[in-house]
Amino acid sequence: MLTSILGLLVTLQLIAIWALMRNRLRHKRALSSLRETVALLEQRLTARTDAWRHANDTLEQTEQRHRITTALLNETKEYLNSIINSMPSVMIGVTPSGHVTHWNSAAELATGIREKKALGFRLQEIYPNLPVPPEMIEESISLSEPRMRENVKVDHLGMNRYVDITVYPLHSLELTGAVIRVDDVTMRQKLDSMMLQNEKLKSLGELAAGMAHEINNPLAAILQSLQNVERRLSPDQAGNQAAAAALGLDLKKMDSYLEAREIKRFLEGMDNAGRRAAEIVRNMLEFSRSSSRQLEPTQLNDVAHASVNFMRNAIEFSMPSLSESLVIEEDYDNSLPAIPASGIELQQVLVNLLKNAAQAIQEARRDAPLIRISTRYIPPLAEIRVEDNGTGMSLATSKQIFDPFFTTKVVGQGTGLGLSISHFIITQRHHGRIEARSTPDKGTTFVITLPIAQPGQSH
Ligand SMILES: Nc1ncnc2c1ncn2[C@@H]1O[C@H](COP(=O)(O)OP(=O)(O)O)[C@@H](O)[C@H]1O
Ligand SMILES: [Mg+2]
Repeated sequence: MLTSILGLLVTLQLIAIWALMRNRLRHKRALSSLRETVALLEQRLTARTDAWRHANDTLEQTEQRHRITTALLNETKEYLNSIINSMPSVMIGVTPSGHVTHWNSAAELATGIREKKALGFRLQEIYPNLPVPPEMIEESISLSEPRMRENVKVDHLGMNRYVDITVYPLHSLELTGAVIRVDDVTMRQKLDSMMLQNEKLKSLGELAAGMAHEINNPLAAILQSLQNVERRLSPDQAGNQAAAAALGLDLKKMDSYLEAREIKRFLEGMDNAGRRAAEIVRNMLEFSRSSSRQLEPTQLNDVAHASVNFMRNAIEFSMPSLSESLVIEEDYDNSLPAIPASGIELQQVLVNLLKNAAQAIQEARRDAPLIRISTRYIPPLAEIRVEDNGTGMSLATSKQIFDPFFTTKVVGQGTGLGLSISHFIITQRHHGRIEARSTPDKGTTFVITLPIAQPGQSH
């Protein structure tokens, strides 16, 4: 019995040992498979990490490249903007419908409208003064050709300016539109009209040259006859005394009569006016021959005073009613040195200005008619002013006064030559400037400035 129990125990123990060993074996196998799995996972993880690291690097590189490209693009944009902005021309980008896409600094300056306020708006709304009709933009885009308008007059802050306008079509892959370029050509226009004016004066000079001899001869005859009349009225001449005695005429009494009726003064006036006319004709002849009269040291104050004297006489003759109440004030700067000038030509200018002033005052029917002529020394310039309280003139008139043959006066009162010749004498012969400042219904001031020394000459 004991033996069988022992045998059973041994058997049971053996079974237990076998089961244990099997279990260990299984465990060992599971462990090694687990290790394999872990190794595989580790391997995969490393591969993934590598891939991720690689992807991360690529992303960083792309981002860096993107950053560089953006910076470069911004730089280029700024560079282009600064080129467009530093251009003196107004540059405006528009869509085919005329909405603003670009507005450079010159456009801001010309319109006073900031870029921010302009972008996106219709050009016609924000810059109505610019004569670019929508058709001009449409035509340029549809024909793919620039469209241009030259010397267009525009109103800029109340001033007339002249501009050239070009509309360039703009075609790119995504964008269609146009660029409008506006160039201020006022200066060129002024130079052109000055040249035209000089041309007109030249042809005027040629006309004068043709007429000069014809006028000079009868003028000489008039002056000669005047001298004869004066001589034959003189009571001191033996010939006159003999002729008077034969007629029983008292020459002394006749002389008193001539004095009393101011006939002698009239004769003197005719003589002065005749000599002046001869002088003017000679002057015009000289222009036409373009022989330049020598400029000599001239006292402007003396020229001004002589012109006033001449004018006083002339006004007495031609505007007797005005001459009674007209006051001509003279205010001369004694520090003014002699300037290189032609006294005769300057007198011609001042007489023109004084005559215009008197005519404007007469037309305005002033209670206290006043002309003021003054000189001032403003180194290195000499200034002469002729002021009047006459009709004044509108802006439109004042822009044309220096044009040959421009006059607002009736035939017989004006030829429209006075100021154009004066302009020529001051600017071309004396290298000076002449301008008018006028207020309608108040009066006009003409300001002449002359250099104290001519170019190339020191004083
Ligand atoms: N002092 C002035 N006041 C007003 N208008 C003036 C004055 N001076 C000139 N003008 C204007 O300028 C025009 C041209 O002057 P001018 O060349 O001297 O020609 P004219 O006197 O023969 O008309 C005048 O017709 C007049 O309209
Ligand atoms: Mg005149």
